[in-house]
Amino acid sequence: MTEHELLQAAENAARNAYAPYSGFAVGAALLSSDGVVYTGCNIENRSFGATCCAERTAFFKAVSEGVYDFDAIAIVGGKDGDFTKLCPPCGICRQVMAEFCSGDFKILLRDGEKVQTHTLSGLFPLPFSL
Ligand code: THU
Repeated sequence: MTEHELLQAAENAARNAYAPYSGFAVGAALLSSDGVVYTGCNIENRSFGATCCAERTAFFKAVSEGVYDFDAIAIVGGKDGDFTKLCPPCGICRQVMAEFCSGDFKILLRDGEKVQTHTLSGLFPLPFSL
């Protein structure tokens, strides 16, 4: 699975976004350590706080199937079918990533024609812990 293939899987997932309130579609493709891809999209709700982000959808799908080890996630987002602009994960999703992933977990983002490769520790250096 190349970076571009993982980003393409995220874009495909974004096309399933349920985002009638923001009009902002997000897709994520989460690569498990055994090479399986779990995709997710954002799922909004008329009670806005009940919305689930694309990244958490992907994580919760995987974890609910007993998968806990992950190597990377690709994230894309945008309006009107344009998924080329930078779409970094929100703080809540970073905290969820920190629950399951170590600091070297890779986060792939589109930036126009380029790909940005981040680590979880770079984007979220001091996660909450009990
Ligand atoms: N959203 C995500 O899916 N992931 C993020 O990391 C940030 C925001 C969604 C939530 C909402 O449906 C829309 O983007 C606009 O905030």
